[in-house]
Amino acid sequence: MSARTSRRTFLAGLAAMPTLALLGCEDDRTTAGPTNTTDTLDFANRLRIPALADSTVANDGVRVFQLSAVPGSAEFLPGLSTPTWSYTDGRSDAGYLGPTLRAAPGERVRVIVENRLSEISTVHWHGMHLPARYDGGPHQPIAPGEQWQPEWLIDQPAATLWYHPHPHGETEFQVTRGLAGLFYLDDGSNQDLPHRYGIDDIPVIIQDRTFDSRGRFQLRGRAVTGLLGDTILVNGTYNPHFPVTARRLRLRILNASTARIYHLAFADDREFAIVATDSGFLPSPQPTRRLLLSPAERAEILVDLRAAERPVLRSLPWDLGMITPLTNGAGGNDHLDLLQLRAGNSLAASGLLPERLAGSSAIALDHVAARRSFQLDGREINGRQMEMSRIDTVVAAGTTELWTVRNTHNQPHNFHVHGVAFQIVPPGMTTPDLRMGWKDTVLLAAGETVQLAIRFPAYRDPLAPYMYHCHLMWHEDVGMMAQFTVVDPDQIDSAPRILEVPQDHMAAGHDHG
Ligand code: C2O
Ligand code: CU
Repeated sequence: MSARTSRRTFLAGLAAMPTLALLGCEDDRTTAGPTNTTDTLDFANRLRIPALADSTVANDGVRVFQLSAVPGSAEFLPGLSTPTWSYTDGRSDAGYLGPTLRAAPGERVRVIVENRLSEISTVHWHGMHLPARYDGGPHQPIAPGEQWQPEWLIDQPAATLWYHPHPHGETEFQVTRGLAGLFYLDDGSNQDLPHRYGIDDIPVIIQDRTFDSRGRFQLRGRAVTGLLGDTILVNGTYNPHFPVTARRLRLRILNASTARIYHLAFADDREFAIVATDSGFLPSPQPTRRLLLSPAERAEILVDLRAAERPVLRSLPWDLGMITPLTNGAGGNDHLDLLQLRAGNSLAASGLLPERLAGSSAIALDHVAARRSFQLDGREINGRQMEMSRIDTVVAAGTTELWTVRNTHNQPHNFHVHGVAFQIVPPGMTTPDLRMGWKDTVLLAAGETVQLAIRFPAYRDPLAPYMYHCHLMWHEDVGMMAQFTVVDPDQIDSAPRILEVPQDHMAAGHDHG
């Protein structure tokens, strides 16, 4: 049983009873969208693998990347050219998504980010532990034609992170256009796991889109959780298969969709093993048959294949505590085929599944510096919407806190905290459940409560906030977000609660109808 399943089972009795009166009060669409039994797919297209980003090591030992956000186009559906935005390192440009950045814990990195788009953007390093002024949130806008050069020390364990734009109110729009990429932190530990990029260690970036008749991304028709698509793209590939040459595959799965929650399984119901969650390895592989992944969450799984097999990774219906029309509107009854693994006739052998991974221990809760609670409801956190100038929470650097997050809404949300990794303390328990792994984003069913044990880094800056928010991108854009600063322990009371925010921090403003 997976960590996720055990938490769900554990919490099944706690799900709130949503009332009919709330049905359809704020959403465009509460009936089922197209239910995507993608029986029509033949997986004709070879899965694209994002290029590994070029980097150079400068004289000062810093690994330097270049990343430009550029407009372009890509062909997803046969014969149709879709206008897109993407990131390029100058060498490779697929017209969609961006190259995979890879660095080792202990390295210093610098990224020369350039905005060649016609509007303000930012690049946020999702899951990275770094000073807030390099975080790439809404307070670090990059104007069209401008550059931004964050530099930091990779000071956290191996993990599959990602990057995406985070301009105030415009994240959903810019991610939908194609801006997102992976950022691997690899330290050479767990050498017995598959680790050949694109061969047996495969990025799997899952997104859903709706195309109009001319092939453009459709940006209308938001439902409960946001913009749902009827067409799946994996690494920007429509109708994809991956040619398998090894007996054991490691899939690094990122849900880079703006709203869709996937309930992953193989069509033949085979078992797989989760080896890592958002922010690093589990203590040991967790065998399971199901995996729920909400936007921004990651999981690394191992799947074993035999010669000539063709298992299909798919998404099954899920139940997150909502009444049926809302579940339909949030895509909870959709069946979606995602990716076919196509094994060759002879496969390279793999070793035994490791019993232990170079994972980590539970966050100690004997010195909890602060306990806080956060309520998710409607499109608000603790009854408030995001305000760029308001600091909602001030945290002492280097301390551990216990955050209780309650979803009192009749809809699912998730909760992401910038700049940290956390562990989950199940209700009624006093220590984190390590099987749930290191996380930076957690899904909350309607009515669900989670407790997060969070260790805050030593970086301090009373003037540069980090964010915490729902990562359903429409929700975050319309204000389901708040800000915290990390300061010296003796500055908790004196740190500013109001910031001056220059007007030019605001981006273009697209329709969020
Ligand atoms: Cu993935 Cu606030 O971000
Ligand atoms: Cu939300």
